Amino acid sequence: MNHENILVETRGKVGLITLNRPKALNALSPALMRELAAALDAFEADENIGAMVITGSERAFAAGADIKEMQTKGYMDVYKGDFITAEWERVTRCRKPVIAAVAGVALGGGCELAMMCDFILAADNARFGQPEINLAIIPGAGGTQRLPRFVGKSKAMEMCLLGQARYMDAAEAERCGLVSRIVPVAQLVDDAVATAAKIAELSLPIVMMAKESVNRAFETTLAEGVHFERRLFHSTFATEDQKEGMAAFVEKRKPSFRQR
Ligand code: CAA
Repeated sequence: MNHENILVETRGKVGLITLNRPKALNALSPALMRELAAALDAFEADENIGAMVITGSERAFAAGADIKEMQTKGYMDVYKGDFITAEWERVTRCRKPVIAAVAGVALGGGCELAMMCDFILAADNARFGQPEINLAIIPGAGGTQRLPRFVGKSKAMEMCLLGQARYMDAAEAERCGLVSRIVPVAQLVDDAVATAAKIAELSLPIVMMAKESVNRAFETTLAEGVHFERRLFHSTFATEDQKEGMAAFVEKRKPSFRQR
């Protein structure tokens, strides 16, 4: 499929999507988000792909939703068109792992897109922020909800209320748990792909269960979450890959997973 706003490639068992609107600092237009959703659909359906990476350029992961496209929209346009929901949420429905590799700015919808992924690797030049308030709107792709879950109420509130006056650099983002690791900017994409490749070598159904179980922690009580985890844990024993994984350990060899 031909895309105008993203680049799509496969590296081994990893699907790599690069946001590619350099002149607009990867502003997330509806067209770009539709292409991103289509690329994710294709990787989700591809049996040879075990994990995905979404990245941008060294200057910008994404500078937010496209302000020039939003500028003239009225309430009825965004409400009836279900703006955001219709185009943006595909990434949250991926069952395979999705890593955000963030260099440069991840602002507004850019920060929110990164937070929709399973974890964020940050380049040392990464900057995160929710500047919507300066446009007299509020975050609309989960910023007020996901950010507090990552960084706590105080930092999230400060970022959402101060907007452009309160961006977070990579060091602070790592300190407060927004990102899992910081990588030198020149190595970011290779590191993210290598990380995704390690996941893609594992048993995909088990990886999917692990992802589903961690995500359940944000949607339920501790007791219900642990119950959910226990049931999935039990179900791993019904798989061929559990037999293979444990046999390989005992026989001191590399496992050969059959993805079932
Ligand atoms: N939408 C549309 N175009 C954007 C954009 C955006 N979000 N961000 C940057 N651009 C465009 C600029 O208009 C400019 O285009 P022109 O050359 O045609 O003028 C080009 O990208 C380069 O940008 P700058 O000249 O501003 O570059 P800079 O280095 O001086 O500043 C920046 C970089 C700090 C990221 C600045 O561009 C900026 O503040 N961008 C807007 C950030 C923002 O407010 N994001 C939130 C959007 S709303 C949102 O995301 C809602 C939601 O929750 C879903």
